[in-house]
Amino acid sequence: MLVLGLESSCDETGAAVVAADGRVLSDVVQSQVALHAPYGGVVPELASRDHLKNIGPVVREALSRAKLQLTDIDAVAVTNRPGLVGALLVGVQAAKGVAWAAKKPLVGVDHLVGHLFAVFLQRDPHEKSDLPEFPFVALLVSGGHTALYRVDAPRADAITELGATRDDAAGEAFDKVAKLLGLGYPGGPAIDRLAAQGDATRVPLEAPMLHSKGLDFSFSGIKTRIAYMVEEKPPQSERDVADVCASFQAAVVTVLIDKLLRAAESSGVRDVVLGGGVAANRELRARLEAAARSKGLRAFVPPFASCTDNAAMIAYAGALRIVNGERDGWDLVTTNATALPRATRKGRGAR
Ligand code: KG4
Ligand code: ZN
Repeated sequence: MLVLGLESSCDETGAAVVAADGRVLSDVVQSQVALHAPYGGVVPELASRDHLKNIGPVVREALSRAKLQLTDIDAVAVTNRPGLVGALLVGVQAAKGVAWAAKKPLVGVDHLVGHLFAVFLQRDPHEKSDLPEFPFVALLVSGGHTALYRVDAPRADAITELGATRDDAAGEAFDKVAKLLGLGYPGGPAIDRLAAQGDATRVPLEAPMLHSKGLDFSFSGIKTRIAYMVEEKPPQSERDVADVCASFQAAVVTVLIDKLLRAAESSGVRDVVLGGGVAANRELRARLEAAARSKGLRAFVPPFASCTDNAAMIAYAGALRIVNGERDGWDLVTTNATALPRATRKGRGAR
């Protein structure tokens, strides 16, 4: 079974063709980073307009790279939540049009569910990568979300949130700190690069909520501390900036890994999985693999293309729904909220 997936929840327009077993036949991502960079963040109205311009070409390109016609596709999957509603609408309306014209079933996909199953995508036809076994614990860490989940089966209703950020997402903190340091947008890759040259011990920053009992996170405090620090004593040299980056990154990575491994141990699972754009961070990847090994756990870190926003993960999560006999109607709607039950309240912590 072949599924055409569409993704337009934030600042990437994506289309992909994926088989029900996770084989990626094509995966096209048109990034809007350059469009939003001058504003230091995503401008929702600009995002919607750019999706509108690109969705048609991106879908055609995905079919062409897979060497397929629309008639070869068995179903259409589309991100319908959570995200910027105007941006989501573009993908959802396009998906309805394509599914209607091709007389194929349509399924909506929760973007977070897409990220959580992205580890099962097989991008290289010559290499079968090791896959995690259910149940596993996953850390989804991106610009919009930071949360820990227990995943018991390949279905959205088998996903349980164990803890989440009470305020900013980790990627959002990377972006805000980079902005404070004048490093441009998006900030994650810039901080990652500079941190490698910095000395994390020169700037004392504690890992936020490291010693709290639960599995919640908070990243707005550390950002505010850096804002005060930069205001009081602006970094004088590139080396000073690199030291702040190294210290900030080490603090964030420490708490992410600590809580992911704690979640795995308290859930009694052996496999831990990383997803979302921040999973591209080199310190996070390297330290997680070492820390998991030392505890006898297996860490699964998908390739970069599967971590950042892409339509292949949406097609795959859609295929799982289709296999379960699920379908959506032409009345499929968009919303900015995830369908996954939340365990953590913004600004407050555990429910
Ligand atoms: O998953 P994603 O592409 O989009 C969202 O759904 O948010 O994640 C984008 C986020 C941005 O905040 C970006 O700064 C961060 O991922 N990011 C990184 C790195 N590469 C991207 N953060 C830390 N280190 C990186 N190497
Ligand atoms: Zn995402």
